[in-house]
Amino acid sequence: MIGDLQQLEISALTELEKATNEDQAQAVRTKYLGRKGRLTGLLRNIAQVPDAEKPLFGKRCNEVKDTLSAKIDEVLFQQSLRKKSDGLLKEKIDVTIPGRSVKFGRIHPVIQIRREICAIFASFGFSIVEGPEVELDYYNFEALNIPKDHPARDMQDTFYIEENIVLRTHTSPVQVRIMEKIQPPVRILSPGRVYRRDSDVSHTPMFHQIEGLLVDKGVSFADLKGILTAFLKKIFGMDTTLRFRPSFFPFTEPSAEVDIRCVICGGSGCRVCGQSGWLEILGSGMVDPAVFRNVGYDSEEYTGFAFGLGLERIAMLKYGVSDIRLFFENDIRFLKQF
Ligand code: DAH
Repeated sequence: MIGDLQQLEISALTELEKATNEDQAQAVRTKYLGRKGRLTGLLRNIAQVPDAEKPLFGKRCNEVKDTLSAKIDEVLFQQSLRKKSDGLLKEKIDVTIPGRSVKFGRIHPVIQIRREICAIFASFGFSIVEGPEVELDYYNFEALNIPKDHPARDMQDTFYIEENIVLRTHTSPVQVRIMEKIQPPVRILSPGRVYRRDSDVSHTPMFHQIEGLLVDKGVSFADLKGILTAFLKKIFGMDTTLRFRPSFFPFTEPSAEVDIRCVICGGSGCRVCGQSGWLEILGSGMVDPAVFRNVGYDSEEYTGFAFGLGLERIAMLKYGVSDIRLFFENDIRFLKQF
């Protein structure tokens, strides 16, 4: 019987060696160790073993059982590993493909211009301040000497939130908010978004302005001309020619619009400048005494000048962009040129 046991072990191990998949290995387990398996069968016939050999036979049976069982587990484990690595190999990872590069964004052209202008005025000693985009009618119009029935309100198609609350149509209300808070001397620059019901190649419902205000004792129109001339030469180049053209704004008196010689045609007349040879760049003027009265400044003691300009317009002229809407379409092909 011991001899049978030995035979059984050898043939089981040989079969196991030939097993190439999980099913075959499991079949070996059933054939030898299963309920009707060969080893189980031998054990069942233990009665035929002489009494003296019974303990040794029993012991050997258990050893063979343990060895076979461990061997089968081992084979199954190896097979599952091979299956996994075959799967990984089939994935075909190409380690030579270049990695994905990080794409850097850049500063929007309008914001580039804003930074440039802010830096120029900061070098003139102006502080940068901001005001709310949702504004009271009082600050947007009333305090700037634009009463309810004033025709100037029609010039700026306004978005109303409520009867007395608007989306600001310009950055000028910041002038009033600042003067309510501080006493002269005032030297501020205020960039920000403004809103008007308007849309075509040169208008978008939202656009950017920069407001400037300087108030002190003895400020004259010569100071206004000096500062704005220095600014425009810095931004458009030293050989820029400008002209101050009489105009009207309810919150300045006198008022002037400032034009530069057309940067496209050099003054001979083209489509961009409407054949005039000049480009309108900003509105300006000496602060109207009525505005000073509204904020409690003594207009006998103080004078000042203010100006406002549109950032998109400057960016369009500087970069030669013909349609303002391009700035807000977020087309990467457009934006990455700046
Ligand atoms: N707020 C004016 C506008 O949006 C621009 C402007 C003109 C601002 C004259 C000023 C100024 O401060 O003095 O059309």
